[in-house]
Amino acid sequence: MNKLFVSLLLTFGLCGATQAADVTGNAAAGQAKTLVCSACHGPDGNSMAPNFPKLAGQGERYLLKQLHEIKDGKRTVLEMTGLLAGLNDQDLADISAYYASQKGSVGAADPNLVARGEALFRGGKLAEGMPACTGCHSPDGTGNAAAGFPHLGGQHADYIKKQLTAFREGDRVNDGDTMVMRSIAAKLSNKDIDALAQYIQGLH
Ligand code: HEC
Ligand code: HEC
Repeated sequence: MNKLFVSLLLTFGLCGATQAADVTGNAAAGQAKTLVCSACHGPDGNSMAPNFPKLAGQGERYLLKQLHEIKDGKRTVLEMTGLLAGLNDQDLADISAYYASQKGSVGAADPNLVARGEALFRGGKLAEGMPACTGCHSPDGTGNAAAGFPHLGGQHADYIKKQLTAFREGDRVNDGDTMVMRSIAAKLSNKDIDALAQYIQGLH
């Protein structure tokens, strides 16, 4: 065995060990910790207000990443200022497991915008090198929980619109070094964003 191979093995071995030592979320314990959250996100994570995101049925890995980043200030959510300060890693994992175990509700799409939204979601913009959303968020919008690609289907259009605009304008920057969502949103006009947000709201 050469040295490179050995060091690769060690690296992957160590990564695996770190992951195994990570805290595991407990959904039942998490429910009791979401009382303060339910005012905005709804008791089961299906929020009624269009600017408060639905969390029900969202992927556990994605939820946990967002909670850590909102807590650490890497993603700014003014409405949640200070709310996560008293919660430790186990609390955040439990809360993520709870919302992931709930069933997300679906809304209705504006019929006038569905065709444009669907074309963008399923086809991207090939001429501009923008990939289809389906590749990561899946054709039915459920995302890819294991990979941390968020579930979008049924989410409030107002919230989706705000996120796509925030990625485009650089107001949301927690999509990693690849800047995957910032570079995709850079190719979207306001009308594209409106159409995608409507299509996603009714998608299931
Ligand atoms: C006063 C209202 C309010 C309360 C209370 C609140 N949130 Fe939020 N939360 C928001 C808003 C608004 C956003 C979206 C901000 C934005 O537009 O980027 C958000 C975003 C989130 C997100 C990111 C969702 C996504 O799809 O990326 C998570 C996760 C979350 N909240 C969890 C919680 C948890 C857990 C609690 C309780 C400890 C909580 N929130 C309490 C208003 C609230
Ligand atoms: C190559 C993979 C990939 C593609 C293609 C992709 N996304 Fe994403 N998207 C992601 C990842 C990863 C995140 C989560 C970023 C983070 O961790 O904060 C995300 C986040 C989002 C969010 C924020 C969700 C929330 O709850 O806040 C929206 C909205 C979104 N994507 C919409 C789209 C749309 C619309 C398209 C197509 C125009 C698209 N995405 C294409 C990978 C992708």
